[in-house]
Amino acid sequence: MASVASSAAPAVTKSTVHGVAPLRAGQGVSFLLRRLHSLSGIVPVGAFLFEHILISNSTAISGPAAYAKQVAFLGGLPLVFFLELFGIWLPILFHALYGFYIWYRGEGNATEYPWTGNWMYTAQRWTGGVAFVYILWHTYTMRFTGVDLHAYPEMSFGKVQAEVFQIPFFLFYVVGLIAASWHFAYGIWLFSAKWGIVSGEKAQKRFLGVCLALFVILTGAGLASLTSFRSRPQQPTEPGASVMDSSHATATYGKPVE
Ligand code: HEM
Repeated sequence: MASVASSAAPAVTKSTVHGVAPLRAGQGVSFLLRRLHSLSGIVPVGAFLFEHILISNSTAISGPAAYAKQVAFLGGLPLVFFLELFGIWLPILFHALYGFYIWYRGEGNATEYPWTGNWMYTAQRWTGGVAFVYILWHTYTMRFTGVDLHAYPEMSFGKVQAEVFQIPFFLFYVVGLIAASWHFAYGIWLFSAKWGIVSGEKAQKRFLGVCLALFVILTGAGLASLTSFRSRPQQPTEPGASVMDSSHATATYGKPVE
């Protein structure tokens, strides 16, 4: 019997090698979804994060008027709601939900996480999870509660201040900023390795340095904006309210303008 089984085996292998490999159930779709997940982390989600931290929020460093001008520009873009929906919210939702699925399935190729391996693999998942909680909360409070900043961009600086003047929320901003910056910066490295854009161990090691530098730049720019929100007098948070003077502001952090 044993000899029958061993003589039958090569025939099966032969027919598989010469034929077109059949698509196993789900394999084609999951390959496409993995590619889409990877790409969406760079465009549009990563591109948006880059713009949000390094361009838009950095204008806060120049003060409330510059910040209001930038918010007015963004809010005045044509079809802004659809831009947000299809360019930001849905791509983030897809990347996040599929990211949680990858995490849950324990998928991922250890060779894509060389040198420090497991730590980077775990950090990429946890920073994604923390960023997700932060993004949900940040979008809800800034976009869907309180004064509508597209209608009243001049209230933007005050609205952010009212939040970051409160220490627990400020710390949440810092944690969210670090998590999202790390996830994106290391994600660029992962993306480049996976798509064969940067290959060879030496080149990849050098590129890792570039990505870590981007992490430092993103975090630094984010912290500089946060510092500028916290170091200026509280601006009005509602249309028609007056601006506090600086001595009053330091005594009433985060309290509504009286
Ligand atoms: C701030 C928003 C986010 C940005 C800019 C972003 C960006 C990226 C980038 C560029 C990558 C590398 C792509 C690749 O692996 O080829 C990546 C990977 C990953 N992201 Fe995100 N992401 C974000 C949010 C999230 C969230 C909320 C989750 C949910 C857990 C998540 C889960 C993942 C996972 C699991 C990977 C690694 C996939 C793997 O190892 O194959 N991401 N992300």
